Formats: sequence, C-alpha cells, structure tokens
Amino acid sequence: MATPHIEAENGDFAPAVIMPGDPKRAERIAHLILDEPRQVNSVRGMLGFTGTYQGQPLSVMGSGMGQPSIAIYATELFQFYGVERIIRVGTCGGISPKVSVGDTIVAMGAHTNSNFNDHRIPQVAFSALASYPLLSAAVSAAPEDLRLHVGAIFSSDAFYRVVPGQLEALAQYDVLGVEMETAALYGIAAELGKQALTVLTVSDHLLDHSGDMTAEERETKFQGALTLAAAAALS
Ligand code: HPA
Repeated sequence: MATPHIEAENGDFAPAVIMPGDPKRAERIAHLILDEPRQVNSVRGMLGFTGTYQGQPLSVMGSGMGQPSIAIYATELFQFYGVERIIRVGTCGGISPKVSVGDTIVAMGAHTNSNFNDHRIPQVAFSALASYPLLSAAVSAAPEDLRLHVGAIFSSDAFYRVVPGQLEALAQYDVLGVEMETAALYGIAAELGKQALTVLTVSDHLLDHSGDMTAEERETKFQGALTLAAAAALS
C-alpha cells in the first residue's frame, strides 16, 4: 500500500515518528538512536526509517521544508500508516530576547502567515496548538541544565522575509522563534484526531545576532531537542 509520496508497506511505520526537516538528518538520527534501523521510504529522497528505541518501535522520517511539504507527509502518515504521534525536531531563528543560540524551544502553539488553517472552522481564526500529553512528556524529560523555553513560535511561509516591523512585533508578543512547518502540522493533527509536538533548537538569532554555534555546539545542542522528542514519542 503506497501513497503518492511514501512507498512503505502497511505496518512499516511505528505509531510515533520523529520528523526533522532534512532527510539526511533523519538518517543520522535513525542510526544514532534506533536499534536495527531499516529504511522504509526513499521516494523523492525523503528518507524514512523504523527501528526500536528503548525496546519500543519508533520511526524517523524527513518532512522537507515548509508547511506544504510537512503537510503531505503528516497527512499520509496519519491517514494511511496508522501513525498516532509526530514529533518535529528542527531549528529556528530566535526572536524573543529571552532566547539565545543553542537554547531549546518546545512549541506550545504556532502563529503563522500561512492560510493553511484558515478555513477549518467557519468564522473562526484557528489556533494551532501542541498536544498537551506530548508537550508534558517532553518538558518532564528535560535535564536541569537544559536552557528550555516553552511558548509560542511563528511558522512562516517565507525564509527571506521583508515585512517591516514584523519581527519586532513578534518579539513584543514574546514569540520565541521562527521556523516554517509547525502551524500546518498542528492543524493536521487536530483535524485527524492525532497528536503532534515541535521541539526546536535555536540555530541563529534574528534580532540580537548573538553569534552562530560551532559545529561541536550544533551536535551537542541538537541532542537536547532529540532527547525531549524521543521522550514525547514514547510517552
Ligand atoms: N526562518 C525560518 N526558519 C528558520 C530560520 C529562520 O530564520 N532559522 C532556522 N529555521
């Protein structure tokens, strides 16, 4: 039973899928945390793997960049492969002055400039929210020394943005960071009665330019988000 974008067979995916944007990162995560990972998708290079983590089945698959791309994979996984939980792991640009490069963000909700969720409920401006059980499990798994923020993010349709004043206004509302996928993911999970969560690492800061991470910092800091995501996946 293939879908237009996934060639896996029925039962090839675990009930929980960890989803980075980059399919190569999905491959690295799969080999890092899964026992006996096996590849279950390669259509359009969107690599997907299933194995076990702490004795439980777990899948890891790329989402691609942007809300249209993650929407395709999330919908097909939820609707046709019996997936119950998707935990996105990714990077974001920091916006709030409270966050610094290397910090971890659990996205409680996602504002967006996309119209993806606009027409779900007549006459209602949809709120794209995380699934609380996943959020709670992720936050509970955070080590004491992790610089963790839980709050709102901004899912933008544009990486190269030019709207004057937008970033400053987002910062004023304490929006923690900007990425490009979560509002659609949360909308689809709500629509289909499934669960979703996004855990992000701040890879750069758009307002304070506090400096990029070193290569070593990137690997160790991303581990924080991955630990939280894995805890949510198995919750
Ligand atoms: N914009 C959107 N997505 C991102 C960014 C950004 O600045 N940084 C990391 N992901």
